[in-house]
Amino acid sequence: MSSYIIEGGKRLEGETFVSGSKNASLPIMAATILNKGISKLYNVPKIHDTQMMIEILKRLGCKVKCSKNKVIIDSTNVKNQEIPENLMREMRSSVIFAGALIGCYKKAIFSYPGGCDIGARPIDLHLKGFEKLGIIVQENFGKIICTAEEINGTEINLDFPSVGATENIILVAVLCKGETIIRNAAMEPEIEDLQNFLNRMGAKIEGAGTHVIKIKGVHKLNDVSYNIMPDRIEAGTLLCSAAITGGKIEVKNANAEHIKPIIDKLEEAGCEIKIDKDTINLRAPKRLKAVDIRTMPYPGFPTDMQAIFGAILATASGTSIITENIFENRFKYAEELQRMGAKIKIEGKALIIKGARKLYGAKVKSTDLRGGASLVLAALRAKGKTEIEDIKFILRGYEKLDQKLNSLGANITAVY
Ligand code: UD1
Repeated sequence: MSSYIIEGGKRLEGETFVSGSKNASLPIMAATILNKGISKLYNVPKIHDTQMMIEILKRLGCKVKCSKNKVIIDSTNVKNQEIPENLMREMRSSVIFAGALIGCYKKAIFSYPGGCDIGARPIDLHLKGFEKLGIIVQENFGKIICTAEEINGTEINLDFPSVGATENIILVAVLCKGETIIRNAAMEPEIEDLQNFLNRMGAKIEGAGTHVIKIKGVHKLNDVSYNIMPDRIEAGTLLCSAAITGGKIEVKNANAEHIKPIIDKLEEAGCEIKIDKDTINLRAPKRLKAVDIRTMPYPGFPTDMQAIFGAILATASGTSIITENIFENRFKYAEELQRMGAKIKIEGKALIIKGARKLYGAKVKSTDLRGGASLVLAALRAKGKTEIEDIKFILRGYEKLDQKLNSLGANITAVY
């Protein structure tokens, strides 16, 4: 089992950079199926989840070449429309292949996706959207079989602005007949990146980044080159890493527009932040102040930063309340933080955090991607040595997190 050994108590200082966005790369990689041609993607983070997407692309019949952060995908000869069950179980985002396969081949077979355990994660909104577009959705022994004779554009009102459902519907609609309008669409910046990628390929989509997205179906798409946007959650994580150690950091290749609520909360907690184009500078006080957080769909405070703030507020002065409104079980990390001396109480959808002066190194276990990252941050501040087991979750979504933090003065050893 792989782990991080972290010697805490080092103040982070220096310059680092943000890698390409995980949550933009995943749907864009699935979307490369649609052009039956060549897609050159740049700034793709080298993480476990993108490696899984490459595995699925290959199993469907694509040729894939990678060098550093460049991935070239040739989708000319897709022969298989079934997403392998073991890979579906590995990663929730595999479900995004459904939209691309149906859009292009009018057929997709897949099973219920797995991924991080942060509560029930149904796909009913994806399937309802498919059905509205005229796709027949059948379930047989746990397999979902989607087929269609003809797919016609229509209006879809999402019951909730689900990121995945919005992306899957866009992928089906790009090549279908007529116009599709998605209302109450998710507004996350990664959806805008997917729109920009698809439009570069020849699609006709407008409105991503707002609640109404319009997709005019086209007959054919072309080869494409595309640079993936920076990862806003990694940017937030790096800023918080310096903040929890009372440090000073310059984060390059960041888009401050995408992380306004994170910047606001860090300022409220006492950090000084300066933004200059794609660079964010943060200087933290010795001890942060308590702040309250409520997670919301974009442009609200992102649920993916909830656990990270859980860590930094565990050492702030005063009592903070975090309310998780998106996922039903995203507090597992809190029990691990308690082992390090954090004073946290879980009350339904809320965490009540009484900031402790000190955290102490301990043996803890990472339970999911962002929960794992929150333990890394707590360990940076803690007195003594922390061993974080099961870092496979962290490696799913962060590119070289240990190396980036070490370059700022942290002392993290990865044991594989
Ligand atoms: C995406 C992100 C994830 C982020 C989340 C919310 C990717 C790869 N992942 O996940 O990092 O935490 O957005 O910002 O982009 N829901 C349903 N039925 C559905 C679909 C969703 O009830 O058919 C519910 C979910 O259970 C959850 C909420 O809607 O409670 C949000 O889910 P969704 O926006 O779909 O998140 P993901 O696309 O899975």
